[in-house]
Order: sequence, then structure tokens, then C-alpha cells
Amino acid sequence: MRILIATMNRGKLREYERLLAEVPGLELETMAALPEPIEVVEDRDTFYGNARKKATEIATVAGMPCLADDSGLEVDALGGRPGVYSARYAGEGSTDSENNAKLLDALSGVADDERTARFQCAIVIIDQSGRELAIAEGACEGRIGSESRGSHGFGYDPLFVPAGYAQTMAELGPETKNQISHRAKAAAKLVPILRELRIP
Ligand code: IMP
Repeated sequence: MRILIATMNRGKLREYERLLAEVPGLELETMAALPEPIEVVEDRDTFYGNARKKATEIATVAGMPCLADDSGLEVDALGGRPGVYSARYAGEGSTDSENNAKLLDALSGVADDERTARFQCAIVIIDQSGRELAIAEGACEGRIGSESRGSHGFGYDPLFVPAGYAQTMAELGPETKNQISHRAKAAAKLVPILRELRIP
């Protein structure tokens, strides 16, 4: 069973290889294996919508099943923002530290118990005829701290304190993150679905 992962990033490929290791006979490839890059505009208003759009366009052009994900941070005090705009919260092409600075600014004066938030992840697999083979979603609950702490991870990890922990995700590091993250939870739901699927 061969599935294309909608990324050029070998790190993400390795992450999915590990997360989906319990699926027998699964071979994952990145888009680097394709003759030409495929650009997809992520303009949907849900994580599922963006993941589905990416997987559909890529599977159809590449002629093989494609797994795409979309993820981001929802902050309750901001009505769920940055949400699908997480990567470009501080503007198109913004860096992680610019996004984090904007988030701290937006939450200045907000009390600790009102800084609840969650990382969300949607994973969708679409086949080459556009049929949805699988969908799985996962969330990681927590709150937004008042300063940047820690050096692991990426994105909002230095500000995000997972529920049940005192450290930020960037202080906790990959081993803990890979057990509690939104992506890990979504991927864990995908495993039994993939075990049942028979993709030639
Ligand atoms: P993507 O859909 O995986 O590209 O994630 C979109 C954006 O959401 C990233 O650029 C980050 O800002 C944020 N994000 C998603 N997952 C994480 C995470 O695990 N830690 C921190 N930030 C994340």
C-alpha cells in the first residue's frame, strides 16, 4: 500500500512513518518523488477543509492516494483564532517568533484561567479518483503562557502549556510531544482505519 504524503519535508515523512508503523505493508513517499511540484492554496476555513483540498488536488495530479494534514492553534479568548491562519497570523510569510509575539500581545491582560487553547490537527487520505479513504482528527488541550520558554519543537510550542503539565511544549521536548500532540492523536485514530483499507 503506497501513499504519498503531502509534504516535501523528510522530517514530516519520518514522523508519519513512526506514527503509522503499526500498519502492515504501508509505504510512504514525499512529494519530492514527483516529477513536478504541486502547489495547493490553503484557503478553506477549517483544518479538515484545507487537508481535504490538499489531498484531493495532489492525489488527482499524482495518480496515487495522498495523505494531507492541516493543523493550527485555537485560542478561546480570541474566538478560536489564529486557527487556520496559524502559520501566517502576523502576516504572509511571518516567522514563528513574529506569530508568537503577536499572540502574546493579543492576550496581554487576559487572566491565566482564561488563556485556554488547543492545537488541532485534521488528516485526510484521498485516492486518485477523488474518493475519501480516511479522515481523522486530534486535539491537544492546554493554555497559552505569558512568556516564551523552551527550545524544542516549532511554531507556538514555546508558548503552549499542555493540560496537566507546568512546562511549555518546547520545554517538554519530542518524546512527550509525540505522545500527547494533536498530530499523534489524529494519527493513532488513522491506524485502525488504514489496517482495514486495501489499497492496491
Ligand atoms: P501545518 O498545517 O502543520 O503546516 O501547521 C500550521 C501552523 O500551525 C504552523 O505553522 C504552526 O504555527 C502551527 N502549528 C501546527 N502544529 C504545531 C505544533 O505542533 N506546535 C506548534 N505550532 C504548531
